[in-house]
Amino acid sequence: MHGPLSRPLPAPDYAYSQGMARRVLITGATSGIGLEAARALAAQGMAVVIVGRDPVKTQRVAAELSRGQPEAVEYLLADLQRMASVRRLAAEYRERYGELDVLINNAGSFFSSRTVTEDSLEATFALNHLAPFLLTHLLLDLITAAPAGRVVTVSSAAHVGARMHWDDLQLAKRYSGFTAYGQSKLANLLFSRELARRLAGTKATSNALHPGAVATSLFDRGTNGALKLALRLIRPFMLDPVQGARTTVYLASSPQVADVSGLYFVKEKPAAPSRQAQDDAAAARLWSASEELLSQ
Ligand SMILES: NC(=O)c1ccc[n+]([C@@H]2O[C@H](COP(=O)([O-])OP(=O)(O)OC[C@H]3O[C@@H](n4cnc5c(N)ncnc54)[C@H](OP(=O)(O)O)[C@@H]3O)[C@@H](O)[C@H]2O)c1
Repeated sequence: MHGPLSRPLPAPDYAYSQGMARRVLITGATSGIGLEAARALAAQGMAVVIVGRDPVKTQRVAAELSRGQPEAVEYLLADLQRMASVRRLAAEYRERYGELDVLINNAGSFFSSRTVTEDSLEATFALNHLAPFLLTHLLLDLITAAPAGRVVTVSSAAHVGARMHWDDLQLAKRYSGFTAYGQSKLANLLFSRELARRLAGTKATSNALHPGAVATSLFDRGTNGALKLALRLIRPFMLDPVQGARTTVYLASSPQVADVSGLYFVKEKPAAPSRQAQDDAAAARLWSASEELLSQ
């Protein structure tokens, strides 16, 4: 960690990266928060590579985002629920670009009923936690070799009240979509914290964020009637995806956070995550458990 903020932050300055063409890799950029974050970063002149799972949709989004941007937005394909696909993505990225300044772990989903992936992993844990954990691992040497590497992980306020089910991380005994989602977003914070600890002494940083309650398609897939109705009712009060992307863009590009690591941000400001998310022993334990799961 490069230490908590002890001085007031200067005013935002998103234009600092103009002309520097820092390279950004962002997952889940075919819709919602990721799409708008990719758009904003490309508009700053960053060289953005988006990751999507649907070839037609991903190509269309990359073409749309490339229009009028100084650096064309490029894309790679991966189904991040599948660890073989995450490994292929990292290998393809490395081969094609060979350098990385900012990795944004944004892709995520909610599964109302328990789904098991081809790796025999519960889908929420696989997609929301293990995929960013593995992708970051596989690209970390590029990030630490960059002049000022950053890893940005999109967590959620849904981590509050959640806990790690150490004896049943895959929630095989008792599953609910909210339990799985909350646990995965707590895992994002523990991962980001432990990564910051491991990056201390390097030029790279790791921070996490809650984007706000944002009107996206996050809960559209796999939600049942009652939840769908509730979401429709609160939708007018939610942020739009452009607003929801702000803290991601801030952590990916603002000079104000160049030396800040190991923190959780809400509305572009450091915030206190839950007590569980500040547990260093749990962060280290999750790191080991994740390594073990991925080595099986
Ligand atoms: N919306 C909120 O209120 C809110 C609040 C807190 C945190 N978050 C977090 O914000 C992040 C972005 O969510 P969002 O709200 O923008 O939702 P979204 O609009 O549903 O976007 C999710 C993105 O992840 C991609 N994705 C899903 N499963 C994938 C897979 N198996 N492989 C590859 N990509 C996959 C989606 O691809 P497709 O386009 O192909 O579906 C999409 O691009 C998530 O981590 C979420 O937990 C959201």
